[in-house]
Amino acid sequence: MTILITAGPTREAIDPVRYLTNRSSGKMGYAMAEAAAGMGHRVILISGPTQLDVPDGVDFVPTESAADMYRAVESWISKADVAIFAAAVADYRPAHVPEHKIKKTGDTMILELIRNPDILGSTRSIFKFNGVLVGFAAETQNVEDNARDKLERKGCDFVVANDVSRNDIGFDTNDNEVMLVYADKTEPLGKHSKHHIGHLILDKTIALASSNIAVTGQ
Ligand code: PMT
Repeated sequence: MTILITAGPTREAIDPVRYLTNRSSGKMGYAMAEAAAGMGHRVILISGPTQLDVPDGVDFVPTESAADMYRAVESWISKADVAIFAAAVADYRPAHVPEHKIKKTGDTMILELIRNPDILGSTRSIFKFNGVLVGFAAETQNVEDNARDKLERKGCDFVVANDVSRNDIGFDTNDNEVMLVYADKTEPLGKHSKHHIGHLILDKTIALASSNIAVTGQ
């Protein structure tokens, strides 16, 4: 099977030396990429900037901004049977990026932001992807309800819901505790290493992909 995984943060340029980003380390996405490659699958890892070593045996596609990641997913998705979106993609980027470093002037400065493309939200509707689609949701409140709303709006098979209000799980930690939110049920996975959670998510995803192949005969 070919598994496409997005991971890590995006960087949105403010000027040539500054950017907007978030606390994603990439550990969750890289753990799944390593697990999938270890199971013998072909892995396309599309990653924002991280400090992590690229797992052995994966096809690595480095990206920086949300727009870069959008283009990378658009060009690789047709190769994939399964797509898992663990990247923490910036929803907005600076509207104007000057050629030169912004000079300090007044006491305040207003930065105008515009919406970034929604990569997960484009995967069914624009990229016409028919494989198994797994989104992530990083939430600080109403975690399960917000994840189920994303599942429905973006056409996911399930959503991995993270409570990112806790500092022992979620962003830039070695452990995670997630719920797998489906249209008709929710499965809490308990607190484990990201490595172990990555294996559990892959097992569920590959089982879904295998049952689709059995039904459609492809
Ligand atoms: O990287 P780590 O430090 O290991 O942390 C892991 C994690 C907390 C980053 C990860 O497990 C996680 O929750 N990733 C999703 C973070 C996020 O941006 O969630 P969201 O609720 O804003 O986005 C929902 C989904 O849409 C995600 O699958 C995201 O990849 C995708 N998305 C979001 C915005 C956008 N413009 N395009 C997208 O594809």
